[in-house]
Amino acid sequence: MGLFNSCGVVYKPAKDVDLSPTSSEFYLKANVKAPRMIGVVVKIFAWVLEMRILGKLLLYVLKANNLIYKLIGDAEIEESPVFCPSHPVEEKESEEVKHIDFDLSETEQVQEAVSCLPTWSEREVNCLNPSFHRWTIMDYARAYHSKKTTPLTVAERFVAAVSESSKPPFNMSFFINYDVEDIMKQAAESTKRYELGRPLSVLDGVPIAVKDEIDCLPYPTTGGTSWLHKLRPCTGDASCVKYLRLCGALIVGKTNMHELGIGTSGINPHHGSTRNPYNSSRICGGSSSGSAAVVAAGLCPAALGVDGGGSVRIPASLCGVVGLKPTFGRVPHSGVLPLNWTVGMVGILAGTIEDAFIVYAAISSKLPSHQNTALPKLCFPLLNSSRPISSITLAKYGEWFNDCSDDIRVCCSNALDKLQKHHGWKSVEVTIPEIEVMRLAHYSTIASECSTSLSSYLEKLDSSQLGWDARVALAVYGSFSSKEYIKAQKIRNRQMYFHRKILAHADVIVSPTTGVTAYPILNAALKTGELDYINGAALVRYSIAGNFLGLPAVTVPVGYDKTGLPIGLQFIGRPWSEATLIHIACAMQALCIGDYKRPQIFYDLLSKE
Ligand SMILES: *[C@@H]1O[C@H](CO)[C@@H](O)[C@H](O)[C@H]1NC(C)=O
Ligand SMILES: *[C@@H]1O[C@H](CO)[C@@H](O)[C@H](O)[C@H]1NC(C)=O
Ligand SMILES: *[C@@H]1O[C@H](CO)[C@@H](O)[C@H](O)[C@H]1NC(C)=O
Repeated sequence: MGLFNSCGVVYKPAKDVDLSPTSSEFYLKANVKAPRMIGVVVKIFAWVLEMRILGKLLLYVLKANNLIYKLIGDAEIEESPVFCPSHPVEEKESEEVKHIDFDLSETEQVQEAVSCLPTWSEREVNCLNPSFHRWTIMDYARAYHSKKTTPLTVAERFVAAVSESSKPPFNMSFFINYDVEDIMKQAAESTKRYELGRPLSVLDGVPIAVKDEIDCLPYPTTGGTSWLHKLRPCTGDASCVKYLRLCGALIVGKTNMHELGIGTSGINPHHGSTRNPYNSSRICGGSSSGSAAVVAAGLCPAALGVDGGGSVRIPASLCGVVGLKPTFGRVPHSGVLPLNWTVGMVGILAGTIEDAFIVYAAISSKLPSHQNTALPKLCFPLLNSSRPISSITLAKYGEWFNDCSDDIRVCCSNALDKLQKHHGWKSVEVTIPEIEVMRLAHYSTIASECSTSLSSYLEKLDSSQLGWDARVALAVYGSFSSKEYIKAQKIRNRQMYFHRKILAHADVIVSPTTGVTAYPILNAALKTGELDYINGAALVRYSIAGNFLGLPAVTVPVGYDKTGLPIGLQFIGRPWSEATLIHIACAMQALCIGDYKRPQIFYDLLSKE
């Protein structure tokens, strides 16, 4: 890291930092200094933070305790700031991929993706009698084609299931909004298309849910609040929703989320706290909590989320589903709440990696969206190939990898061993320096961007309309200075350099997805939310590079802890290397799918026995 000057760290030039396994860089554990708070304590904390003088003082102490000044604000950093994690287009030859022409429509892209999947019979052989199987997009498409069922029947079952799960004793709080009439209308149109033998794509009539942070008619976009939609009406579909509709997808509603996406528990005082289908007294993780839960519970094979600090991968991992977050700029961002500009991106939650791939094919754009970066051609993995891709190198930073609960460490290490042995892939030990510094720099960035983007709304807002934990978060978010923001961008430059160097010698970096599994929801937290920065830091521990550096990343379920709660393994790739990531995730999934377990709360919409 470097020497300390009187008050801040003096960082060594990035190019002089040793990234080898024998590096003298030490691993700094998250030094979170904040008590876990629920109930009335959260309220008192929020009040004090909002006081003019006492609040400033408390914020100063909090930031000092959490090393914001020492590691960021007062640090000396030689590198210049990098404000946006855009990556140059490199047309790199990779194995077993298909390049997709720029001029294909969304439905043609989906068709191309399907042609890269193994055929039905191959798949049957590949996953011999899995103990538990969620219905996939292809299962729906086949059932509709063969007239075994229709989108209308599925929609009826969907509505019945959501209605049951919303009521006691379940109170799952999956959705913020779903409109039965709108769902039945789409389902009727889709059913008609199948009757005429003209479905739009394999997604036609397949239920897909959308996080309530993404614009989608006829719903308001609440962002998990009780007020944002009143100040910012939703006037049209976001691009990604538009593309899904063009493919015929049955858009079934807006999923629950952490208020404004500014937390990782998914506890929401306005719309109910989404409960984990594997144990309904546990959290789902956030912020895309509802999107993960509906996929886990079998209500949709896939759902859209937004990932600003692990918000897709964390809940996916806690709910035992796949989470894919493409490279910064790959999926168009228009029509997504602009809660922050340079770290948040649309991602996909799905029951299997193949389904995440199909939805990725539908929503990926060829046109630049963020800033003015050019986009490289889309590349799809040939998952139908009989030989698996050879010679993958996985980079692993042991100390970081092991900084998680015992169950997660054992489960993820075993999964990784199995993967390497089975395919003869090699893994290399590396040192990723300054990971905790990166987390703080990302926090300073997302906090500054979020409070800036909401500032005009917050001025008009009576703070009693905000949840208590959101009030605390916004008070902290608003406390960062321009010096801290810009120094954080210098840290971004360093980290982009470190990751580029590591990924020059490895195809992916591998880590657990979270440091803890789903923890219990405390009753006192339901109304006030909770402040749990220790569990919070453990949840986001492995997510930051995906957001701050814009790298693509995927999480795959690889097992369960002692109490049966899901565990995910994460792969972080080079910019634009989604095809390789999907390949690797698919290989990992194939080795684990036989042991997948059915959640406590599960609905079978296809084959009602
Ligand atoms: C795999 O899919 C590609 C693209 O559709 C096709 O060209 C190729 O022949 C397929 N390969 C096998 C082994 O089925
Ligand atoms: C940042 O924005 C993304 C999407 O815009 C969202 O998912 C995430 O929760 C936001 N995070 C914060 C802390 O504002
Ligand atoms: C679910 O979690 C609770 C604690 O929150 C625990 O008491 C209970 O045993 C768990 N249920 C199962 C079936 O493991």
